[in-house]
Amino acid sequence: MIHKIEALLQQVEAFKPQAAAEIEEFRVRMLGRKGELNIVLEEFKKVAPEMKRELGQRINNLKNAINERIATLREEVEQQQTPEESQRDMTRPGTADAIGSRHPISLVKNEIVEIFSRLGYTVAEGPEIEDDWHVFSALNFPPEHPARDMQDTFFIQKNPDLLLRTHTSSIQVRTMEHQKPPIRVICPGRVFRNEAISYRAHCIFHQIEGLYIDENVSFADLKQSILYFAKELFGEKAQIRLRPSYFPFTEPSAEVDVSCNLCGGKGCNVCKHTGWLEIMGCGMVDPNVLEASGIDSKKYSGFAFGMGVERIAMLKFGVKDLRLYFENDVRFLRQFDSVF
Ligand code: DAH
Repeated sequence: MIHKIEALLQQVEAFKPQAAAEIEEFRVRMLGRKGELNIVLEEFKKVAPEMKRELGQRINNLKNAINERIATLREEVEQQQTPEESQRDMTRPGTADAIGSRHPISLVKNEIVEIFSRLGYTVAEGPEIEDDWHVFSALNFPPEHPARDMQDTFFIQKNPDLLLRTHTSSIQVRTMEHQKPPIRVICPGRVFRNEAISYRAHCIFHQIEGLYIDENVSFADLKQSILYFAKELFGEKAQIRLRPSYFPFTEPSAEVDVSCNLCGGKGCNVCKHTGWLEIMGCGMVDPNVLEASGIDSKKYSGFAFGMGVERIAMLKFGVKDLRLYFENDVRFLRQFDSVF
């Protein structure tokens, strides 16, 4: 037994941990419940009484040696740490990283989608890389229409039938091809046009399209739906007016103006002193468009509308430089958090 105690003492003195965690392992191995010291103490119970005094003292020395060694090693580790590390309070709550905010375009898009969902519209989506049929032909664009011009549209070189959609009206066609009336969809999405970037134009922007097809849908339904939308978005006082216009896919077609929410219709810089702001195009879906997607134009009629999300955001937030919506400078983006 004396040998065993001596051997342990030597181990204690020779112990040189490589890492701080080894000190704790060593403590458990020596002083733990099933550790070396307890094994020795078990044996100690069995030794002859005359041996007890001397052995007891040796065991005590061993125990002190272990404790001292551990204390010294722990102190060494502590000193190796930088003052900052040893003073670090691990119980303090962490500092939370600032989380981002919703992009103003997403906020406006969500608001518009929500307003129309209250009228029973559901969201439909479509691909950004489209074919000529869904963007132009099925929407009654004649073959020589200037919108098909390379100057306006990004075509895919490998396959001239493929292009980046120039409007979300393509989603109307896809919806009509796949659903039977009644149809009531709102279609948000990104669109692409071959434009030089300036404060008022961008080659990428966002649109929201709406489509309502059923039996006996009239122009009065269109006007009332748009009026409801304008009041929900710009406030109860908002008024609308419709001006005759032209789109290949609607007949009749109109541009919708909303009364200027900044000057209350009196005339200001934003509304160019007219009291009105242009917000969207709309019209009754042309029978050719219904037929192209396999819908019986004798039985069904409908209306459609389309608006630019950036344009609505400009009017809502008074931010007139389009480029700000694409630069993603957080100092700009953070300002819109609590608008809705
Ligand atoms: N697609 C048109 C554009 O990009 C917007 C539009 C106008 C959509 C009238 C419609 C509509 O559905 O009826 O300018």
